[in-house]
Amino acid sequence: MLLKEQIDLQHLPRHIAIIMDGNGRWAQEKGQDRLYGHFHGVESVRNIVEGCAELGIGYLTLYAFSTENWDRPVHEVSGLMELLVETIRKEVPTLNKNNIRLHVIGNLSMLPEYASKALHEALELTSGNKGLNLIMALSYSSRWELMEAVRKIAEDVKAGKLEPSGVDQDTLQKYLTTSAFPDPELMIRTSGEYRISNFLLYQLAYAELYFTATRWPDFRKENLYEAIVDFQKRERRFGKTSAQLENEHPLVIG
Ligand code: IPE
Ligand code: IPE
Ligand code: MG
Repeated sequence: MLLKEQIDLQHLPRHIAIIMDGNGRWAQEKGQDRLYGHFHGVESVRNIVEGCAELGIGYLTLYAFSTENWDRPVHEVSGLMELLVETIRKEVPTLNKNNIRLHVIGNLSMLPEYASKALHEALELTSGNKGLNLIMALSYSSRWELMEAVRKIAEDVKAGKLEPSGVDQDTLQKYLTTSAFPDPELMIRTSGEYRISNFLLYQLAYAELYFTATRWPDFRKENLYEAIVDFQKRERRFGKTSAQLENEHPLVIG
C-alpha cells in the first residue's frame, strides 16, 4: 500500500512543527556553498506546504531562522534573509490560490527594514485565507518568546490590568506569540540532530517528536507521510495509563 494511503485522515495531527535542518551540510557534501543548500531547501518548503494543504492539516509551523542564527557569518545571514523574504513575496499568489494563510512568529524588530515590510505585505495579502495556517518562525527563539511574555504580564500587572493571583496557564498562553494556534502535536526535525534548539519549548510539552536523518533539501511529501504514519501508531497518554485510555475510547472491532 502506498504510504499516503496508510494515513488515517480522521486522525491527522492538527498542528505539525518542523525544524528544517541540514541545508548547510547538504550543500557542503556536494562541494557547494552553504547558501546553495538554503536555496534548495525552498523547494522542500514548497513541497511540504503543498503536502500539508492537500492532506487538510490545520497548522504548519516552520522554523526558518532562530535568534541564534543571527550569529552566523554575515554572508550567510544576509543571503538567507534575502532568500526567505524573496520566497515569501513570490509565493503569495500560490498561497492565495491554495487558501493558505501566512503567519510569522519571532522577534521581527531584528529584521532589516525591507524584510519586515515585505513580510507585513504578505501577511496582509493572505489574511483572508481560511485553509492551512502556515506559521513561519523567523528570528524566533522560545526563550525570547517566554521572556517577552513574562515582561508583558509584569507590565499589565503593574498597570492594574491583571492580578498576580489571576495568572494561570490560560493567561500565559495568551501572551505567547502562538496564542492563536493549538499546540503542535507532531514535531519533526530533519538532518539527524536530536535537539529542540530553542524551538517552541513550552508548546511542545506533549508533542510527539520525530527525528529523521534526511537533510532538509531532500525532505519531500513521502517523508512527511512517513512521519505522520509513525505519529498515528503512537499512544498519546498525557500522563494517564493505557488502561484508562482504553476505557475512554474503546477499540471498535469490525
Ligand atoms: C537549517 O540548515 C536552516 C537554518 C538553520 C537557517 P542549517 O543551515 O542549520 O544546516 P546545517 O545544520 O549546518 O547542515
Ligand atoms: C535550528 O537549526 C534553527 C532552524 C532550523 C531555523 P540550527 O542548525 O541553527 O540548530 P543547532 O545550532 O544545530 O542547534
Ligand atoms: Mg543546522
